[in-house]
Amino acid sequence: MNRERRKIVVTSALPYANGDIHIGHLVEYLQTDFWVRFQKLRGNDCVYVCADDTHGTPVMIRARKEGISPEELIARTHAIHLKDFTDFQVAFDNYYSTNSPENKAFSEQFFAAMEKSGGITRRTAPQLYCEHCRMFLPDRFVKGTCPKCGAEGQYGDSCDHCGSTYAAEELGSPKCTTCGGTPVVKDSEHLYFELEPQHEYLEKWIPAHTTSDVSNKLLEWFREPLRGWCISRDAPYFGFEIPGHKGKFFYVWVDAPIGYLASLKNWCGRNGQKFEDWWQDPKVERYHFIGKDIIRFHCLFWPGMLHVAGFEQPDKIFVHGFLTVNGEKMSKSKGTFVNARTYLDHLPPEALRYYYAAKLGPTTDDMDLNLADFVQRVNSDLVGKITNIASRSAQMLQKKLGGTLATLAGHDEELALLKQLRDGGEAVARHYEDRRFNQAVVEICRLADAANEYFDRKEPWKTVKTDAEATRVILTAALNAFRILAIYLKPILPVYADKAMKLFGESEWTWDSRDAAVEGIALGEYEYLASRIDSKQVEAMVAAATVKPADSGEVAHESRASKNKGERGTGNGELGTVVSPLKAEVAFPDFEKLDLRVGVVESCETVPKSSKLLKFVLDAGALGKRTIFSGIRAAYPEPEKLVGREVVFVANLAPRKMSVGVSEGMILFAGEPGKGGGALSPSSPAGAGTEVT
Ligand code: 2FM
Ligand code: ZN
Repeated sequence: MNRERRKIVVTSALPYANGDIHIGHLVEYLQTDFWVRFQKLRGNDCVYVCADDTHGTPVMIRARKEGISPEELIARTHAIHLKDFTDFQVAFDNYYSTNSPENKAFSEQFFAAMEKSGGITRRTAPQLYCEHCRMFLPDRFVKGTCPKCGAEGQYGDSCDHCGSTYAAEELGSPKCTTCGGTPVVKDSEHLYFELEPQHEYLEKWIPAHTTSDVSNKLLEWFREPLRGWCISRDAPYFGFEIPGHKGKFFYVWVDAPIGYLASLKNWCGRNGQKFEDWWQDPKVERYHFIGKDIIRFHCLFWPGMLHVAGFEQPDKIFVHGFLTVNGEKMSKSKGTFVNARTYLDHLPPEALRYYYAAKLGPTTDDMDLNLADFVQRVNSDLVGKITNIASRSAQMLQKKLGGTLATLAGHDEELALLKQLRDGGEAVARHYEDRRFNQAVVEICRLADAANEYFDRKEPWKTVKTDAEATRVILTAALNAFRILAIYLKPILPVYADKAMKLFGESEWTWDSRDAAVEGIALGEYEYLASRIDSKQVEAMVAAATVKPADSGEVAHESRASKNKGERGTGNGELGTVVSPLKAEVAFPDFEKLDLRVGVVESCETVPKSSKLLKFVLDAGALGKRTIFSGIRAAYPEPEKLVGREVVFVANLAPRKMSVGVSEGMILFAGEPGKGGGALSPSSPAGAGTEVT
């Protein structure tokens, strides 16, 4: 098929060089990798760049503690990060470092342009200074009493107890977290990048380059003049010194996004390409994948910097949510804050790649890794439903029929099955393109169902005893159906797909390879593609990740995708939190007012234009039928599977009028008929603030 070959630059946010990659980070790197691999499979020219984010106080302090130089620390981390990513099959075209000559040169170029535009101002501000450590303290390096609610042990930017934000100097009894000493307040002059001159430009730019939930949040700030952004830090600081400002360094968030350009430039240099042909050509598409905690840096400061420095802008910023595990924030004491390496010590990368894909959509909603569901889905879908088609067919063909494939010409039923699978690929491709990975997986499973239905109906295990050639045709059709599925899965499961490809004696697959059928040749050796995982492996992983409460303190910086805020705590402005605080207690007489009934799901469907809602029609027995909208779509990519289930619902909730219709109650949980059932995860009530997008 002739598609126009697109040129695309893709980035994932740069992980900090002072911490390990964990399964929260992987939400981002895996989805970016799925998308990039899809683009490449479709024949597009796509370059995926990333780097370690190396600068800032935490790297400096950690190196000091270990008695090594920051350069040694970041070199060591770079190797570890790259190995983690490689073992998770994340294929960067370039994985670089922000501590690079390209990044220094770009940072200086940006600063010169920012100064030239008149956008740089100077202001003196008070800051906490530790005489013992001889440094100004970043917010996350000081703890004290919250000035608003009096809670103790709060960081210098915000209070975990009451949620208020403040300046570090406002903390009561502040203590340096490095040495325990009491800091003093000292004035220091800093450089600010003024954004107000770009008020109008950014106000237009933001909604055109982000989704509405992201831009609505950001645009709240535009009701007032935009505040300047402090871009300097005092020595000692591990980073780039600001030209003409001795003893002042670029704040790490200045050179971090510039690191995208530096990594791209480095890639260009090594691949005979010109940087301008990739970043500066308006025909090239550019996308940043980021977590919702760093929106402000990517959708406000970064476009502001690019604009004054005369660089092209990204086309879109794709923002994802945080990871929860078993419905809660990742926790070191519960063993759910799992490092990439700890995961890999116990489980295959394919399992997490498959599960994340099955759960990931294009929204900023948080994504839950439910560990029981993880085992169940990998085993039932990836292994039981998809891989089994290949293993059963290939092994029978090899053991009983000499391993040679039939030709399918004239076999209409078989040709129709393969056509159905090929036709289904259009939807799969659209889902990938729009980052609805969960829907792509649903569609692939649906096609696998068709192949399984064919296989079971044809009963080759019986016919093989009586009619070898008819059986050869059945197995050839099943194997070719699997081949198409494996091509569709290649962005998610590249190593798996490569093994499948070899089974068919092929050396390269593109998306369009699905149009051919492999016939008449000897099948290659069947290599294990995916094996079942066991909950014992998960238990062992959790045990290995469990940290005693005394040691489980949060590490500054591990903010992205796990919700823990880092040193550069992004303040109030970013989107969302993971676990909402417990609401006020409900007295029993109030609870008793709820009339809870059981109903059976008669139909369940998605709601047009809503990413969150499902529309249920319940058979509520004597109460008749009830229509209820429930905001649980993310948890149930296959709503039709809920049909026939029993659910408990609040029957006497006042009907609520929503833009999509009237909701007549609230569903609390769902289960298998007669079994009582598993939790319907975040069953956010329709009508109670459920957003229709
Ligand atoms: O939040 C973080 O983990 C940062 N290290 C991300 C930087 S992304 C980009 F701007 F470099
Ligand atoms: Zn100190």
